Formats: sequence, structure tokens, C-alpha cells
Amino acid sequence: MTDRVSTPRRFLMCAPEFYDVTYEINPWMDVTVETDRDLALRQWHTLHQTYLDWGHTVDLIPPLPGLPDMVYAANGATVVDGLVYSARFRYPERGAEGPAYQKWFADQGFVTHTASEINEGEGDILTVGDVLLAGTGFRTDRSAHAELADLTGRQVISLELVDPSYYHLDTALAVIDSDPASPAIAYYPPAFSAASQALLAERYPDAIIATATDAAALGLNAVSDGRRVVVAPGAVDLAAALRARGYEPHPVDTSELLKGGGGAKCCTLEIRER
Ligand code: ARG
Repeated sequence: MTDRVSTPRRFLMCAPEFYDVTYEINPWMDVTVETDRDLALRQWHTLHQTYLDWGHTVDLIPPLPGLPDMVYAANGATVVDGLVYSARFRYPERGAEGPAYQKWFADQGFVTHTASEINEGEGDILTVGDVLLAGTGFRTDRSAHAELADLTGRQVISLELVDPSYYHLDTALAVIDSDPASPAIAYYPPAFSAASQALLAERYPDAIIATATDAAALGLNAVSDGRRVVVAPGAVDLAAALRARGYEPHPVDTSELLKGGGGAKCCTLEIRER
């Protein structure tokens, strides 16, 4: 079996100190269901510690009161080749997160670009090898895909999401290997339009096809370092498929953050400095 190689990562996370479900902008959110912030914090700390144990670097952005979704750091920006493309949120409830994350990057000395088009960062924009896969349909506008292509000079492949439960690309597709020499993904076909399913099948014939069970656990909201993969404990089929291909799935329970419609990947923004 192929020996999988993990590469050191730099992540940005935001502790769920003000986490709550106070509005509903995706089908997972229900304001009548109580959230347990202490549990959310404990689960988030486990995820954070997992990355540190694996030798990755994790920066922390201070959480802001009044922004209960700020824990979903993946939505805060897209960082490719050291360039920061700011997020511009679909819903006003999250609007202030874009500038907050952009300011954090600017304060760290990054060159940042203010997006003119609506996009929700790495929630919808995933780097796989040399290309960017970009979701649209619920949150990110297709015009942002073009803006991103202009900014990065990379090929941006648009994918249309059709199931409201899988409203961000990172809820329907996981990057398992981002190395340009061996790009690999897992995805849940029914979350995509027929045309996007055909495109994915053609481009990634060896992709892991996730099951309805995996998808319902938000199992595709996974984080891989090339060898070790954080997955939701309920994504049992995905974990088995990963193991069969030589990856090491590590279940980390983020059930409390699922009440907001997010999992491990949503809480993790990758800072690609090169
Ligand atoms: N409540 C948040 C929203 O609906 C969840 C975001 C999840 N993040 C992600 N990267 N999928 O916007």
C-alpha cells in the first residue's frame, strides 16, 4: 500500500467562547435547541490539541462577542500562495467576520485583498493540488470564482451545490491530499448538480465516494494532513475507505458545533504561505 506522507500545516482557529445558535441560516441550525458552550469549548480544544500533537502550527484569532459563528474559521478567508482573499458573507449576521479575519491577517503582515464578490472563504473554496475547487449555489457567488482566478492566477473549477443541507463545498467534499503530485478528494455526489457530478467523476476517477451516512454526520468536513485525517465519528464508511487507502482516520467529536452546521474543517482555516 502507498505510504502516505503528512506535511506540516499552519492553521488558524477561533475558540467558541461566544458560540451559540441565535439565528438560522442553514438547515442544521435550530434556535429552539439549546447549545452547551462548555461542551463546544471542550470539543474544540480536543481538535486544537490534535493538531498540536501532530506537530502542526495553530494560530488563534480572538473571538468577538456578537459573532456566534466566528468559531467556523474556515469561512474567514482563503489563503493561497500567501495571498489572502477576504470573505464577504451572504448573510448580514456574519458580515462583520470578513473584516475581522482580514484585519487579523493584515496585522500578521499578510498582503490581503478585499473581495468585491460574495464568498465564504474556505467553506466554498478548496485547494487541491494546482487547482481551486469552488462551490456555488447557496453562499458563494460564481462571480467570486472569477475574482479568485484573477487574483491567484490559478484554475478555479466551479461546482454547483444543490442540497441545502450541504450548503458549503466543505460539507460535501473533502480534500484528502492537496499535493499537486497526488491530488485526492472524497465527496458525496448527491450534493452536486448532475453537471458537477460528471465533472468530478471525470477529473477525480479515484475519488472516495462518501455514503449518505458519512454526509449526514458532516463527515466530509474533514481535515487531512496528507496521512492523518480528522473525521466525524459518525462517518464510518469514510473512515473505512480512508484506511483502505493507507490514510489514518482520527475520529474527533464536534457534535456540539454540528448544531451550527459545522464540523472539524469548518473550525480550521489553512494558511498556505507558499
Ligand atoms: N452557522 C454557520 C453558517 O451557516 C456554519 C458555517 C460552517 N462552516 C463551514 N466551513 N462549512 O454559516
